[in-house]
Amino acid sequence: MNAPIAHFNGKLLPLDQISISPLDRGFIFGDGVYEVIPVYAGTPLRAREHFERLQRSMDEIRLTNPHTVVEWMKLTEELLRHHPGDQAVYIQVTRGAPQKRDHVIPKGLQPTVFMMSNPMTTPSREAVENGVACVTSRDFRWEKCHVKSTSLLGNVLARQISADAGATETILFRDGHLTEASSSNVFVVKKGAVAAPPRDNLILMGITYDLVMQLAREGAVKLETRPVTEAEVRAADEIWLSSSTKEVLAVTTLDGKPVGPGKPGPIFRRMHQLYQEHKAKAAKAKVAA
Ligand SMILES: Cc1ncc(COP(=O)(O)O)c(C=O)c1O
Repeated sequence: MNAPIAHFNGKLLPLDQISISPLDRGFIFGDGVYEVIPVYAGTPLRAREHFERLQRSMDEIRLTNPHTVVEWMKLTEELLRHHPGDQAVYIQVTRGAPQKRDHVIPKGLQPTVFMMSNPMTTPSREAVENGVACVTSRDFRWEKCHVKSTSLLGNVLARQISADAGATETILFRDGHLTEASSSNVFVVKKGAVAAPPRDNLILMGITYDLVMQLAREGAVKLETRPVTEAEVRAADEIWLSSSTKEVLAVTTLDGKPVGPGKPGPIFRRMHQLYQEHKAKAAKAKVAA
């Protein structure tokens, strides 16, 4: 089988013909940022918002963006010509490859740009209808979780805790409060009201998290952002995960105990329906809505 086409520093190439320097700071230090954009029937969802977040991540790590949003959109379009259907586009920009290894950020280095696209697997019907299992852990990551950095060891180790337990995600607590999960944001529902942790440096500001907020406003679902305690999570009627590839997904067991009655709740089902309607409308309109 031919290797899929990917983008590397301005060129479209088969993935197996791309190689990077071992001195690339992405490889040596995890010194880079990334994005994952969901694509439905060839139409990227919220592409502009993803590229704006990429810009914010670059600003945080003092990396000059090699492309404008318009250029990024064009590169994405070019790549997608080789990848029809439902896709997840991955974009990574590292600080580049200097002559030697040194923690200090070198000046004038050309960033390394890599983009690939893979068929997107959204949650199965079974997962949507029955919900998924999650476990919990202390949030042992750094204090710049709002940066979508390729330095993902903390997230990798957090995710492995749930993988080892046969669960879908690891929900994280820092100082007695909910932050997020290893690769998703988390919402809780109590007595019909949804709550999510506030946007700060301790969580990634998910593009899906923002979309859920918008859909809640439009669909008259009560939702507030505020600190959420660990006790509230454990006593919640519903818990949801959100991410670009998980969309919105109900958590029905937490650390082996049922969440509420142990099946996806009514507010989840409403939000899931709003999400599906939104994405179908966006794909049909052929706009990155
Ligand atoms: C740590 C973390 N939080 C939240 C999210 C959800 O972000 P988004 O909705 O933009 O996919 C992700 C996505 O990968 C993530 O890695």
